[in-house]
Amino acid sequence: MSDDRLIQAVRQDDDAQYEAGLRPRTLDDYIGQDKVRENLAVSIAAARQRGEALDHVLLYGPPGLGKTTLALVIANELGVSVRGTAGPVLEKPGDLAAILTNLQDREVLFIDEIHRMAPQIEEILYPAMEDYELDIVIGQGPGARSVKVPLQKFTLVGATTRTGLLTSPLRSRFGIVHRLDFYAEADMLEIVHRSARILNVPIDHEAAGEIARRCRGTPRIANRLLRRVRDYAQVRADGHATGDVARKALVLLDVDEHGFDEVDRRLLRAIIEKFGGGPVGLNTLAAAISEEKDAIEDIYEPFLMQIGFLDRTPRGRVATPRAFAYFGLPAPGKDQKLWE
Ligand code: ADE
Repeated sequence: MSDDRLIQAVRQDDDAQYEAGLRPRTLDDYIGQDKVRENLAVSIAAARQRGEALDHVLLYGPPGLGKTTLALVIANELGVSVRGTAGPVLEKPGDLAAILTNLQDREVLFIDEIHRMAPQIEEILYPAMEDYELDIVIGQGPGARSVKVPLQKFTLVGATTRTGLLTSPLRSRFGIVHRLDFYAEADMLEIVHRSARILNVPIDHEAAGEIARRCRGTPRIANRLLRRVRDYAQVRADGHATGDVARKALVLLDVDEHGFDEVDRRLLRAIIEKFGGGPVGLNTLAAAISEEKDAIEDIYEPFLMQIGFLDRTPRGRVATPRAFAYFGLPAPGKDQKLWE
């Protein structure tokens, strides 16, 4: 496994089986994202008291922070089952129509990567979300007629990396919209201890701290690092994940103190070395490091901004003095006017 796979937040093949066992199932078990949790607790309790379907929920934020987990928690707290699909998986309008007509009263439909739905499929969702109706056109040309098929009252939970990727008709149909943020280190520490308990990994506070600091505030990455530290502890030590064992394992895996991957480093280096620290426009930057613009905006930048290595200015992206320090370079002085 290459190091950059290890610290990528996007889901990978071998994550799925582990994630299933590690996912919290109730809001009480869910650690962090306090504001989102509290708001959802109120919305869910209110819907339950009224005996109604919960309003449609849009969850957005960088990958690996628990959007799918929250969708499952919401269904569980509502006491209903959940049907899951993803934007790119829906190929024909009929695919979505089939799912919608099979939903039971108050059930949850989870659509991951909802911004990647084809426009003609997305249009089916509008009357479905608003009036719990399918508008089906039968026939073609002058003889075509529209038939309305009633649907059960369901809750759509949509997940996306940025709300800006959604069309406004779709976005406006969600009554509940929440952004998930990178987790604070204290929350990550709790999550690592919880996962270690479930996976039966004897881990001390120091080792958990090493993982919590190097996982980019992302539970999916923390859980992956935990599994690798467990391997190392088993093969190169007595099975106990101590601080020393964790540090050695993480050094061997090339995971640095911030959990940076290859792309983070390339991105910062490009701004510093090719563009004098910035500002540099997103398009130019994407071309310079041969990465997709969307991946830079959705995955890399949010984390680098959160830890204060990157700034977005009206004129483009700028590397901060911290970023210069990370590479052992002196930050340009104010008199050099590099950033003006
Ligand atoms: N595992 C992954 N994400 C989690 C979270 N937010 N709370 C508890 N356990 C988790």
